[in-house]
Amino acid sequence: MDNTPKGSLVVVGTGISVAGQMTVAAKSYIENADIVFMGIMNKVGEHAVTNINPNTISLDDLYQEGKSRAVTYSQMADRIVQAVIDGQRVCAAFYGHPGVFVTPSHEAIRRVRELGLDAHMLPGISAEDCLIADLGIDPSRFGCQSYEATQFLFRDYHIDPHMTQIIWQVGLAGEASLSVLNANHSKPGLAMLADILREHYPDDHELIIYEAATLPLCQPKIQKVLLSELMYAEPTLISTLVVPSLGLPAYRQDRLAKLGLTEQQVIAYRNPSVN
Ligand SMILES: C[S@@+](CC[C@H](N)C(=O)[O-])C[C@H]1O[C@@H](n2cnc3c(N)ncnc32)[C@H](O)[C@@H]1O
Repeated sequence: MDNTPKGSLVVVGTGISVAGQMTVAAKSYIENADIVFMGIMNKVGEHAVTNINPNTISLDDLYQEGKSRAVTYSQMADRIVQAVIDGQRVCAAFYGHPGVFVTPSHEAIRRVRELGLDAHMLPGISAEDCLIADLGIDPSRFGCQSYEATQFLFRDYHIDPHMTQIIWQVGLAGEASLSVLNANHSKPGLAMLADILREHYPDDHELIIYEAATLPLCQPKIQKVLLSELMYAEPTLISTLVVPSLGLPAYRQDRLAKLGLTEQQVIAYRNPSVN
């Protein structure tokens, strides 16, 4: 019989606001873990997790100005996976949703599974979830496109201006080295982002630079900015840029006809008169 201790990994999210956005399941896994690694980027959040389980280790010390975040993320995964190999029930807690724009969480799960050990992720409340609630934007209304700002600049994405655009990490737009830890207000990235958006939207289109509240009782920051002024904005590391839709696209008459429908019928179905 193999008596080697079998480690396991569960990756959980703590939500964006430190108190109140952690799920009951996430709290329970944190409570029952042998060790909890924290990638929370917020001392109050770390304190909240340490109150649930004192056996915590922060991963934040791995960040260093001038060091590539790609290296940092790989080292975070190393730490997490090593604890699993050592036979511990490991919980890794990241802020927000642990699978949304978080490289080491996915990487650690992949590596633990490759070892034939248990690893899974629980969903959490992401910045996008808070944005939907605070800004009253339902992604189903116009459809939604969501990207990381620097990838948005560097790659040939096709924007559909009828959809809501959600652009993450706008404070680091154009930062290619992955080694800067401050939001760069060196304007070229933002200016280029504005130029790309101008190909699709008018100068007076109103954008939103959004920051969900990270502490209880605090309000979200909702800064409205005209597209023509985007390059002068000063987004932070926790800002997300929202570009509202220009409105729904026209109906495709050819598709409606194939289904034996008319535009008027569809509109009537969607807007029944209520007596
Ligand atoms: C590395 S990602 C982490 C996302 C996080 N895992 C989540 O579930 O929201 C960092 C980016 O998330 C967004 N973000 C993080 N905190 C935020 C907040 N309080 N308000 C709005 N956006 C936020 C910003 O776009 C930021 O640059």
